[in-house]
Amino acid sequence: METLSVELSERSYPIFIGPGLLNDAGRLRPYLGRGRAFVVSNDIVAPLYLNVVKQMLGESYGGEIILPDGEAHKTLGTISKIYDWLLRAKADRQTTLVALGGGVVGDIAGFAAATYQRGINFLQIPTTLLAQVDSSVGGKTGVNHPLGKNMIGAFYQPKCVLIDTQVLETLPQREVKAGLAEVIKYGLVNQPEFLAWLTSNAEDILALDDEKLTELIRVCCQAKADIVAADEREAGLRALLNLGHTFGHAIETASGYGTLLHGETVAMGMVMAADLSRRLDLLTAEQAAEVRGILENDFSIPVIPPGQISAEDYLDLMSSDKKAEQGKIRFILLKSLGHAVLRGDVPLKLLRETLSAGEELCR
Ligand code: NAD
Ligand code: GLY
Repeated sequence: METLSVELSERSYPIFIGPGLLNDAGRLRPYLGRGRAFVVSNDIVAPLYLNVVKQMLGESYGGEIILPDGEAHKTLGTISKIYDWLLRAKADRQTTLVALGGGVVGDIAGFAAATYQRGINFLQIPTTLLAQVDSSVGGKTGVNHPLGKNMIGAFYQPKCVLIDTQVLETLPQREVKAGLAEVIKYGLVNQPEFLAWLTSNAEDILALDDEKLTELIRVCCQAKADIVAADEREAGLRALLNLGHTFGHAIETASGYGTLLHGETVAMGMVMAADLSRRLDLLTAEQAAEVRGILENDFSIPVIPPGQISAEDYLDLMSSDKKAEQGKIRFILLKSLGHAVLRGDVPLKLLRETLSAGEELCR
């Protein structure tokens, strides 16, 4: 087992990574607090892993809140139902919420924990690759709004993150690939050696080789822990982790939550960010093509955005991106494969070229 730490003074917390950790009965006990622990999961993950988590929680286990599966349910309506459930169960300030699921469950449960009675204890047990390498670490919690992705939320750190790599065995391959988009993101942002390691081990990674997966998750969690420790609330450095997200969030919102997977839209967004970087002469045409090649050829992740989103739709949705300042959209762009930069000075003409190129740019 590997143990990493997110260093945030008195709010520091461990990330445990390893195969079979859900069977490590005492592992969560120090992080549970005095009250009952309620598991928040969904109707896909609960039948697979709820029983073993119940055993882990032992006498602390107080019940489960089972949400309908899917991004379409990452809404304030779902949060409200969780509050109803907690109030009916007389959950108090000593209560712990345990998120058992992918990024959707983690983001929802985290936001419910951040806001119920002004904040209760919260643990993360991520069960998708995406959640294990990204969303369970760092304390971004929240839900979608019809007009924008992840627009309602809070920064709220868990007390610990428990990553059992064996649960990935039941994850559909399309979800594995969507998670790999966020993994490749770390390489593109600031880890060129990791990017090279990923491409040379692509076959083993796609075959879910245990050793390679554990290593990959460790590297990503360490990268995230370092960035979050330096810039918890995204004043600067952490924004780099949004590579591909400005375009990707617009694609996700415009195409309807749940139509495309979050990781897939991030992949599409990273290809568009590489295209824009090329138009700004930050990347060469060969480098931009290499970004697309890693995603599409090495890892067979779809990178072509849906054709029906117009340039005007993109501009409208991106103008409310959380990185926007005084109405100006800011982008994470690439200076090389392994060096991302934040730019607020992108000429509208070049942005329009990237948007209008649409499917063409991805050919
Ligand atoms: P998800 O939570 O919808 O999970 C994907 C699918 O896999 C779901 O159908 C789920 O029920 C199923 N599943 C989960 N674990 C499984 C398992 N072990 N076996 C079989 N099926 C399993 O999607 P996701 O990709 O994990 O997360 C995407 C969400 O994460 C988005 O809402 C995105 O905005 C959010 N996100 C948040 C952060 C953050 O920092 N908080 C970072 C990245 C993404
Ligand atoms: N997923 C990007 C972040 O947590 O900042």
